[in-house]
Amino acid sequence: MSLPAKAAPRVFSGMQPTGNLHLGNYLGAMVRWVEMQASHECIFCVVDMHAITVWQDPEDLRSQTRAVTAAYIASGIDPKRTILFNQSQVHEHAELAWIFNCVARLGWLNRMTQFKEKAGKDRENASVGLYAYPNLMAADILVYRATHVPVGDDQKQHLELARDIAQKFNNDYAKALGAAGFPDGFFPLPEPVIMGPATRVMSLRDGTKKMSKSDASDLSRINMTDDADAIAKKIQKAKTDPEPLPSEVAGLETRPEADNLVGIYAALEGSTKEAVLRQHGGAQFSGFKKALVELAVSRIAPVNAEMSRLLGDPAEIDRILADGSKRARAIAAPILDQVKDVVGFLRG
Ligand code: TRP
Repeated sequence: MSLPAKAAPRVFSGMQPTGNLHLGNYLGAMVRWVEMQASHECIFCVVDMHAITVWQDPEDLRSQTRAVTAAYIASGIDPKRTILFNQSQVHEHAELAWIFNCVARLGWLNRMTQFKEKAGKDRENASVGLYAYPNLMAADILVYRATHVPVGDDQKQHLELARDIAQKFNNDYAKALGAAGFPDGFFPLPEPVIMGPATRVMSLRDGTKKMSKSDASDLSRINMTDDADAIAKKIQKAKTDPEPLPSEVAGLETRPEADNLVGIYAALEGSTKEAVLRQHGGAQFSGFKKALVELAVSRIAPVNAEMSRLLGDPAEIDRILADGSKRARAIAAPILDQVKDVVGFLRG
């Protein structure tokens, strides 16, 4: 079955309002999203309904939802141009997710590696929501008939599932869809936009592990809320090896910590590892780290300051989210209505 003929490109992505944002989120997601909004219609969603698949303190959930929203705006998401909202204010997501619960197969969800990781050994005690998480994610995307989804590597499998759901819905309801004027299917098969090499920012303490909000050591990550002194300290203490920097990228292959710092430098500068090594090849880490501190502080401090300013006015953030939700609903509601008709639900 072919794609709906004239599916105009539409970008959708979501971020969880849990844990503090760090440099990995900033370089891997936020900066890329900001770039995409220049050329695409974008819908960005703070996925508070996904967050409660594991228990969240209600006050924390509220403040994290505002903090993530502020961080994205501070990084350059323009809430006038782009739709920025929190998931739970657009009930169409939940409604479509239920229909998708009835389209997706147990066998498909049983293959999801993220569920296995998150549920751990005590699978019997995981929430049903955690299990059905990928169906809600598919609904997030498809309730807007979005075509492109910027995600990190770890979400590729969930996106494949979203494609499978879209495809199966198009097949299962082919006859009703044909009669309703969609002979080529209703849902596009959304494509992952896997974000570039900077997607994988690794721990400053171990170049083989991803930078993570859950790492026990705060020295392993640069938080978006770190001030200049904290950023400097963490980079100074970052693990390295005894050799000077190589002058070719190939020389980084067996040196995960060096590779990570060069990658971070390139991403912050908006250049490439090749370019960084052309400039710093042969340098000792002490000198390179000084340059990296300067660059990191110059990029992160303004975002940090703007984020604090925004968080000083929570009512304004709530107003932005309410406005985004209204605009999101204006797109989602008619799409959900068409789905309800196709499925055979009566509506007044
Ligand atoms: N699961 C994504 C993550 O943890 C967040 C997410 C929820 C998402 N819904 C989405 C991402 C829809 C892209 C599209 O990163």
